Amino acid sequence: MPIVNRIASYHNEMTEWRRDIHAHPEMAFEEKRTADVVARQLESFGIEVHRGLAKTGVVGQLKNGDGPSIGLRADMDALPIQELNDFAHKSKNEGTMHACGHDGHTTMLLGAAKYLSETKNFNGTINFIFQPAEEGEGGARVMIEEGLFEKFPCDSIYGMHNMPGMESGTFGVRSGPLMAAFDTFDIHVNGRGSHAAMPQQSIDPLAIGAQILTALQNIVSRNVHPIDSAVVSVTQFHGGTTMNVIPDNAYLGGTVRCFKPEIQDFIEESIRRIADGIAAAHGASVKVEYERRYPPTINHDNETAHALKIACDVVGVDQVDTELTPVMGSEDYAFMLQERPGCYLWIGNGPGEGGCMLHNSHYDFNDEILPVGASFFARMVEHALPVN
Ligand code: NI
Repeated sequence: MPIVNRIASYHNEMTEWRRDIHAHPEMAFEEKRTADVVARQLESFGIEVHRGLAKTGVVGQLKNGDGPSIGLRADMDALPIQELNDFAHKSKNEGTMHACGHDGHTTMLLGAAKYLSETKNFNGTINFIFQPAEEGEGGARVMIEEGLFEKFPCDSIYGMHNMPGMESGTFGVRSGPLMAAFDTFDIHVNGRGSHAAMPQQSIDPLAIGAQILTALQNIVSRNVHPIDSAVVSVTQFHGGTTMNVIPDNAYLGGTVRCFKPEIQDFIEESIRRIADGIAAAHGASVKVEYERRYPPTINHDNETAHALKIACDVVGVDQVDTELTPVMGSEDYAFMLQERPGCYLWIGNGPGEGGCMLHNSHYDFNDEILPVGASFFARMVEHALPVN
């Protein structure tokens, strides 16, 4: 049972929807036009539309009989990237770009919604969840806090992300941990400024910050169990304004990724200890802020088995990778998986021009896979909400 024929017949239409969304990208919690487009489409399919969760979130609810309920999720937000593509549907919004394919995710779910509203070959309730602010701002968490699953009960939930480098017409499905937890840290080093030619009068926050940066490299390489996966990346180091002044302060910031709560605790404690200890050794002080943004994305066994079956049905068993290596990137769908059993999977986006990865200014979602993803969602519903 390959791609659903009826959905394949929407391909041109879906391509138009996707390119329209691509040309009008919007940032976290500002997806107003996108939400309008989604709501209008759902209404045109005769689906009941609910708006306002997490500001710009949209939920379409389609009922047919009294069977179980299912949630299907897509994300709608774009990134603060200046698009460098040259095609007709390139971003019209300066400095904003759909560089993660959320335009495609939204379109695939709309395609499935159109099919399911026309065929109604299911018994139960479908909640089509279009969430804002996946990129760093936790739109899924906000929707949940505002009552997503109380207002729209879901016995199970499914979502997917495109993956450049994986062939189009393929899926990646894996039970257990798929993506890492996402934390951030800020380290403010407070020293004492002076003339650069009189360093004896200073407590140099740059020299101290450099030692902190170096010492942080020991956490993963020397302290975390080698079999556990973890990343500590310092991504910012700022301080000073000119060549002959030692500044008062310096700032280091970065991110931590890992899969286990106890490793998160350990790394947070280690960052604090190292920063405090090195600063104290030099007579400086530090302020460390540590924030836990996203939990790890952990798929549930039972729902993953169902997703695997459907993925194999849609593209063929040879086209489904079950030996995926988990990635240290993160995903706020993780919050949904903490609330309801479900599965998150990859859909191959093809190698792309120059192997263009997500969040690259030349990235584009591959329209060829729109019917593939929509077929997965459609078949998933027909499988999970069977007609007796
Ligand atoms: Ni994304």
